[in-house]
Amino acid sequence: MIAIVSGTNRPESRTRMIVGEVIERYRSLSASYQLLDLAELPAEIFSPTAYQDKPDVFTPFASTVLESDGLVVVTPEYNGSFPGVLKYFIDMLKFPESFENRPVCFVGLSAGSWGALRAVEQLQQIFGYRNAYLYPGRVFIPEVYRRLDDEGRLNDPDLVQRLERQADGFLKFVGQIKSLSG
Ligand SMILES: Cc1cc2nc3c(=O)[nH]c(=O)nc-3n(C[C@H](O)[C@H](O)[C@H](O)COP(=O)(O)O)c2cc1C
Repeated sequence: MIAIVSGTNRPESRTRMIVGEVIERYRSLSASYQLLDLAELPAEIFSPTAYQDKPDVFTPFASTVLESDGLVVVTPEYNGSFPGVLKYFIDMLKFPESFENRPVCFVGLSAGSWGALRAVEQLQQIFGYRNAYLYPGRVFIPEVYRRLDDEGRLNDPDLVQRLERQADGFLKFVGQIKSLSG
């Protein structure tokens, strides 16, 4: 199963729309997936006591990461970085098994012209530090507001193709790593 992280909790987030596009690519490849939408994080997780005692309502999020064969992290660019809530989510997950030897791939998007390049590279640094396997094929979506139609669908066939290629390549990468460790 591939866990797909929608990396912000902002209402009406474009990230969530791009996640919809990413999901479609995995669906069309008949891959099983689970969505981890940070907009659905339970309020209890934001209590300072959560570092010590994880609320039970967080268990499905943590378990999905632990049970996944690979993670797809879709992140917007916030202040030249990724959203604070995504770092907080990472910090709430079980250490070290959540990311250790787990394949991870990245999609970035932004309103501006950088397409979350820095956000993705900063995430790669964190996941690299945590001994995840970083899939090298990243997808960046700059000027995201121009690339979504009224239904929130990507209107750019080139980007759709890049997401297709990434999903196909990432599934193969996950399979190869599984066969090495199995
Ligand atoms: C707190 C915040 C900071 C942002 N900083 C940047 C930025 O540094 N560069 C940029 O291109 N867009 C920035 N944006 C715009 C987002 O890239 C834009 O909202 C885009 O739609 C993706 O984020 P979303 O999933 O919240 O919609 C920022 C948005 C927010 C809410």
